[in-house]
Amino acid sequence: MRPPTASSAAEPSNSPELVVYQIYPRSFQDSDGDGAGDLNGITARLDHIVGLGADAIWLSPIYPSPWADGGYDVADYEAVDPSFGTLGDADALIAAAHQSGLKVLFDIVPCHTSIEHPWFREHPDWYIWSDRDGPQNNWRSAFGGSAWSRDPVSGRWYLHSFYPEQADLNWRNPEVPRAFANVLRFWLDRGVDGFRIDALDRILKDPELRDDPPASGPPPLPELGLAEPLDFRHSRNAPDVGVALAQLRAAAGDALLVGEGYLVSDRLAPYLEYLDACFSFELLHAPWEADAVGAAIAAATRVGKAAWVLSNHDFARLPNRVGPENVRAAALLLLTLPGMAFVYQGDELGMADGPDEGHDRAGRDRHRHPMPWDRSPNAGFTTGEPWLEVVIPPEGPADAQAENEGSMLAWYRDLLGLRRDLQGDVEMLGAAPGVVAFRRGSHLIALNLGDAPEAPPPAHELVLSTPASNLVALAPGGAIVALG
Ligand code: NOJ
Repeated sequence: MRPPTASSAAEPSNSPELVVYQIYPRSFQDSDGDGAGDLNGITARLDHIVGLGADAIWLSPIYPSPWADGGYDVADYEAVDPSFGTLGDADALIAAAHQSGLKVLFDIVPCHTSIEHPWFREHPDWYIWSDRDGPQNNWRSAFGGSAWSRDPVSGRWYLHSFYPEQADLNWRNPEVPRAFANVLRFWLDRGVDGFRIDALDRILKDPELRDDPPASGPPPLPELGLAEPLDFRHSRNAPDVGVALAQLRAAAGDALLVGEGYLVSDRLAPYLEYLDACFSFELLHAPWEADAVGAAIAAATRVGKAAWVLSNHDFARLPNRVGPENVRAAALLLLTLPGMAFVYQGDELGMADGPDEGHDRAGRDRHRHPMPWDRSPNAGFTTGEPWLEVVIPPEGPADAQAENEGSMLAWYRDLLGLRRDLQGDVEMLGAAPGVVAFRRGSHLIALNLGDAPEAPPPAHELVLSTPASNLVALAPGGAIVALG
């Protein structure tokens, strides 16, 4: 284990350009025929990720969970859910990943626990309670409705920023950060290289639990199911969030910490003081239009330490969001920007959303359909009954795409290979309407988000391009990387 160091408290030492492959463990590979993915399945498929050229894997939560929120309702942070395997399987996966040159990031959920976590009964003072017989204030849950629910056991009302099954922890009680320091050390001792940290903008709230004022305009990032728009001044993004982040950083030492805060870039500076990177959600939500995409890139690069992401287990997959004709250009953008880049499992195969047949009340299971590996029954994902239907993407399952130089998988491999040659900051370039163009060192990147062919900025040697685009004309949905 890396001992925590004093200097790391304020100066994260990682400044990574890593490509991180996000695994949603329940949908990656089943090894025991129960229809749900597991750790041994991931270990057996690491070659796919190595072959892609990724540097690291991030596993969405693998902890015991009643699965009210797809594993983000954790009932024990220091164990593995039996459906995923054992602690021994986790050790074997970490060792095999390291053997293959991959770093391993786990997912840590410090904002809330499952109400079935023993802490909820054993340490009620670790949670946030109303002192009224009803909600303490007007705060809303991310999924809509009041953020307060009545605990049928005690009769008291507790805060939940997400589903009612996820009670918010009180990070102002020093025992909570201490408990999480133990959790981080537990996994660091087992060899993980870092963490993706969930919902950090909600970790600390207004100590007086004051009402959020009404919103003065539309939310800066889209909200899931929120009926009543509020200005989340008191329920999120507390001015003293650095106190909690410093505690996490001190516990993590120099391990990699990537923050998930659902905030626009210009709010991220206090987080980045302690973290190696934060997700840039503006780009993920930007309409696929040159002005909006250009503005999202400019905003995040101004702040720095971006973790670029275009899809994950919470939001529409790329073909659904940008349109199938733009997916290759979107991947090119994701993988040519400086900073960390996160590739969600299946995007490298061109997977689209599946049918909404799942359990998630917010309808997000359609973004979580299992990986299609081959043409065997259930596409090689499971020998049992898959927990969600396996849908084969238009370009075929992984094994077929691996053999085809024109496939989406080959495109991702080419991009990951090229990425190693890219250096320098982003310099945005003027371009034709509908075109986003920027320079990184001697490389020029341009993509056409419009409906008509456009000329790219001048360049002299084509390095990589989508079909039908070149140094003279960018097809709609086309993109190039050139020297120029
Ligand atoms: C963000 C996670 O990605 C999402 O799946 C989850 O519902 C919320 N945080 C709450 O943990």
